Amino acid sequence: MCEVHKNNCFIHVPSGMQPIALSCIVNGEAVAAMVDPTMTLLNFLRSELKLFGTKEGCGEGECGACTIIMNGVAVNSCLILAAEVEEANIITVEGLAQGDKISILQEEFIEKDALQCGFCTPGMLMSARALLDRIPNPTVDEVKEALAGNFCRCTGYFPIIDAVMATAERERRELRK
Ligand code: FES
Ligand code: FES
Repeated sequence: MCEVHKNNCFIHVPSGMQPIALSCIVNGEAVAAMVDPTMTLLNFLRSELKLFGTKEGCGEGECGACTIIMNGVAVNSCLILAAEVEEANIITVEGLAQGDKISILQEEFIEKDALQCGFCTPGMLMSARALLDRIPNPTVDEVKEALAGNFCRCTGYFPIIDAVMATAERERRELRK
């Protein structure tokens, strides 16, 4: 029985294979668990760690809704097995805020109306965060390229690009203080 969909879905049914020990860092916290060798990182984050911010869209690497940052790189967590992330440093959308204070990037998404239904937003934020960590002063083309794997059905993308550019400017200003 699938624990996620509560039916016989073929995505989440345990394989019956011997569980594998996993240890990694998620949002700054050490995590240790036994995982089914066929479990994706996306399912591990949602089902085991209850980090529901990371979304499951296509489940096959096409939509970007499941994007997280692993060892500094934005990746599709639906395409990675949990068993592969041994010793990895993982950041999910829940790791962007500092306590009760949301990040500048999240503030700018709100400010620029860069979300509507919000389903794509966690993935967008993580792709944008990985870009800004790598390139603090990106061009619009670099933002477009970084977000190319993240689909949004609602916003038309322009407010998202504006939000990322505004974040870059604000973060650079903060650094100069
Ligand atoms: S759910 Fe992973 S890319 Fe769509
Ligand atoms: S805000 Fe709805 S899919 Fe992007």
